[in-house]
Amino acid sequence: MGKVKSAIPGLDELIEGGYVENDVILVTGGPGTGKTTFGVQYLYGGVLNFDEPGVLVVMEESPSRIIRDMWRFGWDIEKLVSQKKMKIIYANPFTYTKFVKTLEKSPINTIAARKNVGSIFEQIQAEVEAINAKRIFIDSITSFKIATDKSEVRQKISEFIKNLEYLDCTTLMSSEVQGKQSSFSVEEYLSSGVIRLHVFRVAGNRVKAIEILKMRGVKHDETLHPYEIKDKGLIIYPNETVMNDEVSLFDSAARK
Ligand SMILES: Nc1ncnc2c1ncn2[C@@H]1O[C@H](COP(=O)(O)OP(=O)(O)OP(=O)(O)O)[C@@H](O)[C@H]1O
Ligand SMILES: [Mg+2]
Repeated sequence: MGKVKSAIPGLDELIEGGYVENDVILVTGGPGTGKTTFGVQYLYGGVLNFDEPGVLVVMEESPSRIIRDMWRFGWDIEKLVSQKKMKIIYANPFTYTKFVKTLEKSPINTIAARKNVGSIFEQIQAEVEAINAKRIFIDSITSFKIATDKSEVRQKISEFIKNLEYLDCTTLMSSEVQGKQSSFSVEEYLSSGVIRLHVFRVAGNRVKAIEILKMRGVKHDETLHPYEIKDKGLIIYPNETVMNDEVSLFDSAARK
C-alpha cells in the first residue's frame, strides 16, 4: 500500500506515514481554521519535495485571492503554474458566466470549468493528464453540494468521489463545518479519511486542534493535537494533546 506524504509537519506520524495512495481525504473545519492552507501546503510540498505536480480546484473563492493569501507563506503558486507543475481550475458553480468574461485578462493560467457541475470531474481529469498530476486539492466541496439538487446530493458526491479514486492521484477536499460539530455530513461518510480542524476557547484564548476522525485501512491516532498556522504554513504538535472537554468555538456559536 503506497503512502503519500502530507507535507504538514507532524501529521504523517499520526496516520502511519501518510495518506493511502489514491484515496480521497476530507479536511473539515469552521471558518478560518486553515483548510485552504492545509490543502495548498499539500500541493506545494508535493511539487517541492517530491516533484509531484498538483491540480488545485477552486470552487468559490477567487483563485487570485488564494494565490495572494498563500504568498504570505512564501508559496509562489504562479511560478509553479508557469512551470506546469500546478494547474488551477476555477469551478465556481455560482458565478460561472461572470468569470468567463474576465478570463482573458487574468494573469493567472486559470482554466474555467464548464457550467455543468457534473462536468467538473472531466475538467479535473483533463488537467491531471496534462501535467501528469499526482495530487489534487478541491477547495471546497461545500459549494458543489449547495449547487446540487438536494435529492441528488448523496449520489452526485458519491459518484464524484469514486471517479476521483480512479485517477492516479491522491485527493484532498475541504469541507465547511455547518451547524454543530457533532453532526456529520454526507461527504464525511463517503470519503476514505476525515481530518477535522477544531478551534476551542480555553481561558480566553483560542486553541487550534486537529483530529483524525477516520482513515480507512490505517491505525490512526485518535487524540486531539494542537496545531498552529505560522509563517511557513500549518504545523502540528503530535506529542502534545488538547483536552476535548473544552468549549468548541463553533459549537457554542451554533447553539445561539
Ligand atoms: N502568516 C500567518 N501566521 C499566522 N496565521 C496566519 C498567517 N497567515 C494566515 N494566518 C491565519 O490563517 C487563517 C486562514 O487560513 P485559511 O484561509 O487556510 O483558512 P480556511 O479554513 O480556508 O478559511 P475559510 O473558512 O475562510 O475558507 C486565518 O485565520 C489567519 O489568521
Ligand atoms: Mg478557505
